[in-house]
Amino acid sequence: MSEQTTVINPLPAPLNGSTRVPGDKSISHRAVLFSAMAEGTSRVSGVLDSGDVRSSIRAVQALGAKVTLEKQVDGSLSGGITGWGERGPIQPDGPIDCGNSGTTVRLLMGILAPWDIEVELTGDDSLRKRPMRRITAPLMKMGVQFSLAGRETLPITIHGSRPLRAIEYDAPMASAQLKTAVLLAGLGATGKTILNEPAISRNHTELMLPEYGAVTTAAERVATVKGPCTLRACEVNVPGDPSSAAFLVCAALLKPGSEVQIENVSLNAGRIGFTRTLERMGANVSIEGLGTAGKEPYGIISARYTHELVGCEIPADKIASVIDEIPVLALVAAHARGLTVFRQVGELRVKEANRLKATIDGLSQLGVDAWVEGDDLYIEGQPDLQVPDGLVFNSHKDHRMAMTWSLVGLCGDKPVTIVDFDSIKISFPSFLGSLEGLAR
Ligand code: S3P
Repeated sequence: MSEQTTVINPLPAPLNGSTRVPGDKSISHRAVLFSAMAEGTSRVSGVLDSGDVRSSIRAVQALGAKVTLEKQVDGSLSGGITGWGERGPIQPDGPIDCGNSGTTVRLLMGILAPWDIEVELTGDDSLRKRPMRRITAPLMKMGVQFSLAGRETLPITIHGSRPLRAIEYDAPMASAQLKTAVLLAGLGATGKTILNEPAISRNHTELMLPEYGAVTTAAERVATVKGPCTLRACEVNVPGDPSSAAFLVCAALLKPGSEVQIENVSLNAGRIGFTRTLERMGANVSIEGLGTAGKEPYGIISARYTHELVGCEIPADKIASVIDEIPVLALVAAHARGLTVFRQVGELRVKEANRLKATIDGLSQLGVDAWVEGDDLYIEGQPDLQVPDGLVFNSHKDHRMAMTWSLVGLCGDKPVTIVDFDSIKISFPSFLGSLEGLAR
């Protein structure tokens, strides 16, 4: 595919007022996938309509779930999903293409594991480079077989097996995708499957599975599920995505005169680490809890332009709670006085792009010193940062890199060009419209 370039112009005014962001991507994937596994028809609302969630929807349709989601006036998807329940998924006609979505393919492996089925899973150029052994290794211990063309990358054919062995597994990294794949496979195993993690990862699966009737326990760094168990249909209302909200919050902090409130956004503690990091940088950011959707807390995040920001250190055990926000936090850190250090961020190398390298490269285009020592990311901020003329940032077709570098143009006074800006459709298709709507 040829490169596409987009010029991003400065916003004409500060950001002011209240807005909402589209549904949370992680919760939307789980609502689609868990409903497809369940017996009966689940009612879901507020589901994010984006490239990644569409990958999950297409996958479950190919496996026999009936999806009748309709586009709502606010852009979200609502409606019914009738799952395969006790009958299990059907053998699809061909390979399942998971597009750019790591969550789709990794969770699908756990979902397909306990069925007598053979499915080839693949994805786009980015997804075909991402590591899958972290998922295949524990599933193989449970009795699943895989045919791999490469060493540990897609395309991979999964050969499910029934019933599976329940295992206790020590995850080598804090990954909610790995944890979820093992727990979902555990639903088709006999006995208790236990997943220990080295640091806390996002807990949407543990919060949602009991709503679908699964017997799960969740404590700090350990989650369990008891099988065999068939999920039962339920109702899910998806709150707004804090990872999308983070871009609006950071835009408000960087654009003089701004003050914004983002309503109806998930305040799950495992997801809003960025608000704590920004507070420690001296930013005017606050949260207000309003209630729960299912077991997911939601509320309002407010942010006001902050002239004086200071660098800070983000310890390794907090990284999972900011993992998707590190590129945009790094851009804020570039404007802060002093050093910011993100400890143990090696996982960034295997996201949709190598975000560690992409972040350092983009910051160096801005004239900001950023470097890696081991797996730690260092950024030497410049409170008086002057953006050079004519910058062209490569998004590497990574939605979060595209949005991060576009803030340089939107919040400053010089246009920037982004290569493959369209990748934002993966998680936040209305990103530009949201910012423009606040800047009138
Ligand atoms: C996700 C978990 C995170 C995150 C990804 C979505 C999820 O990855 O980066 O965007 O929905 O479970 P890990 O599996 O590495 O935690």
